[in-house]
Amino acid sequence: MQIKHLTGISDLETHDIYSILEKSLFYSEQVKNKKPIHPLLQDSLVANIFFENSTRTRFSFEVAQKRLGANVLNFDEESSSLAKGESLYDTLKTFESLGIDIAIIRHSDDNFINSLRENFSFSTINAGAGKNEHPTQSLLDLFTIHQEFKTFEGLKICICGDIQSSRVAKSNIRALKKLGVEVYLTGPEILLPKSDEIEDHCTLLELDKAIEISDVMMFLRIQHERHQTFEIPIEEYNKKYGLNHERLARMKERAIIMHPGPVNRDVEILSELVEHEKSRIFKQMENGVYTRMAILEWIMENNR
Ligand code: CP
Repeated sequence: MQIKHLTGISDLETHDIYSILEKSLFYSEQVKNKKPIHPLLQDSLVANIFFENSTRTRFSFEVAQKRLGANVLNFDEESSSLAKGESLYDTLKTFESLGIDIAIIRHSDDNFINSLRENFSFSTINAGAGKNEHPTQSLLDLFTIHQEFKTFEGLKICICGDIQSSRVAKSNIRALKKLGVEVYLTGPEILLPKSDEIEDHCTLLELDKAIEISDVMMFLRIQHERHQTFEIPIEEYNKKYGLNHERLARMKERAIIMHPGPVNRDVEILSELVEHEKSRIFKQMENGVYTRMAILEWIMENNR
């Protein structure tokens, strides 16, 4: 049997992306209308194995798994035998021996999750890999954008902030490229990709220009834990690179505000704007469940 994985956007053809978005819509309607959901994973064992903190990804995966009837194992690093010196490899070998079908893994290393593909008999889903990729966040972002505009054609999307550290930005840039979307990148110069690293469909633009022409303004958290050299007072960051009332007023009428979370209120976005009518931040979190249900189904179907 061929084992399907989702460790990066390169695992997805454009038709896979559209199929996951269509299925996410189906699950959103089933859940909202309290309609029955086929327990697709009732005979499956799924393990959530997180080596980095998480609230949204970790729990929306668990909700998605439970809605699909899965048997769920939740790994806790602190109480695991890793604390007694067991290796990561042996920890995952243990889960394989227990018979898991799917592992949802988050790890601080850029390449660790990808390296598991050939070594284990379970499907691997990347729930956040270092600064490299976060494909399930990207898919829920795409679902949220598609829900809003019903198409990707002609959209202009601006990603603002700590792009260098952001696995969400990397996955979104790769996915939006597949969909032909124009992407603007903006933020503190030191946190932007170098000019020779910028993908050909991305354009570096000043925030005050991008905000007037973008359909989606996607703000990112400053990931202080991933770099030591960037220090800037909160008010100064918001004034230069964040969303405030003055910039909000210059957004297009139908433009929306997104952020993968967690949000540093008053830094990337003024606190009172986090729940503004243009904001889809909590909608993104809700959509994370539907999209992850669709991703689990996509994995199961392709494992057959
Ligand atoms: N967006 C995201 O990955 O959030 P968590 O770190 O809470 O999972």
